[in-house]
Amino acid sequence: MTDTRKESHMAADPDSGISIRGISKSFDGTRVLRDIDLEVGRGEFFSLLGPSGCGKSTLLNILGGLETPDSGSIRIGDRDVTHLPAEKRPTNMVFQSYAMFPHLSVAKNVAYGLRRKRLGRRERDEKVERMLSLVHLDGLGDRNPSELSGGQRQRVALARALVMEPAVLLLDESLAALDRRLREAMQIELRELQREVGITFVFVTHDQDEAMSMSDRIAVMGGGRILQIGRPTELYHAPASREVAEFIGSINLIEVTPCAGGRLEAPGLGAFDCDSAAGEGGLLALRPECFGIAREAPAAGNRLEGRVREVTFLGDRSYLRVNVEGLEDPLIASCSFREAEGLSRDDRVWLTWSAEDGRLIPSDR
Ligand SMILES: Nc1ncnc2c1ncn2[C@@H]1O[C@H](COP(=O)(O)OP(=O)(O)O)[C@@H](O)[C@H]1O
Ligand SMILES: [Mg+2]
Repeated sequence: MTDTRKESHMAADPDSGISIRGISKSFDGTRVLRDIDLEVGRGEFFSLLGPSGCGKSTLLNILGGLETPDSGSIRIGDRDVTHLPAEKRPTNMVFQSYAMFPHLSVAKNVAYGLRRKRLGRRERDEKVERMLSLVHLDGLGDRNPSELSGGQRQRVALARALVMEPAVLLLDESLAALDRRLREAMQIELRELQREVGITFVFVTHDQDEAMSMSDRIAVMGGGRILQIGRPTELYHAPASREVAEFIGSINLIEVTPCAGGRLEAPGLGAFDCDSAAGEGGLLALRPECFGIAREAPAAGNRLEGRVREVTFLGDRSYLRVNVEGLEDPLIASCSFREAEGLSRDDRVWLTWSAEDGRLIPSDR
């Protein structure tokens, strides 16, 4: 083994960004990560988002030193950490299954890593207290882990990782075990916590809402590759491919070809204006909230005529599924309760949208 003792202190630049270059990884001859390049800015809340099995955890584990890449390199701040073991990296990991020592109090669980670092008692107690307060567990240090709720246990796990003062916190589906309400509350809390401590978070999730609501930027992954990197609004409004468009939010896709006047034509359905079209065909992508709903044929503008198939009332909004002759799938429109009021199955409607709301993305056929 190489001697890495010289680099053994954790005093990495707390502002460290991450630079991932050409990371590949196979398990038993199957490629799980393919040539991943990624830059994460210092202090960024960055998410790896993608369906189960796409390689998110493997990438996170490679970042944390729990898994070795077949090729490529990783820098954190100004250090190449590719060959450093986990405990010598300026990273710390929070898992979904936040196993705690059941016979130790909450405070002792949080202090565990500091004891191993042989920190003095006073300093240790101070840090633990500060951490418990940071995650809103003041006064619960003497409790036994079994006396905590799921959300509280998740906070202990965060405190336990943050007390080690990592430059980068790695979180693997760490809210997934919580029920929906608690998870949504913890998402906001986690985001606030990240702002407060100011360190880089790399958060793995398969839940697009979770990634969208917390992240500065997101890398959407699929099949061991990064499909697109962007801010949540960019990914939502300007998906680069069908895969990304379909993974983030719901979307309507209509195959189109270019036609006269820079417009787009869907055979048998008419021609449409689209600001993002540049003389090429592909898929016209329309988010459900782009649509207006008209009960009479509009005089001008983009429109499609169809019949209501289903009205779904969700309280804050309603979803309308509209069958359009010539389209395989019904179009989905999201609107206010008022707009959908009185509409029922088989009613004739026109869906309208503006040229700036449609987005042309490459066809994958
Ligand atoms: N230690 C391992 N040995 C063999 N196969 C693995 C191992 N870890 C992960 N895999 C496989 O690699 C693929 C990606 O896994 P993972 O990174 O856990 O995906 P995700 O976190 O996106 O769900 C999966 O097909 C998984 O079965
Ligand atoms: Mg995983």
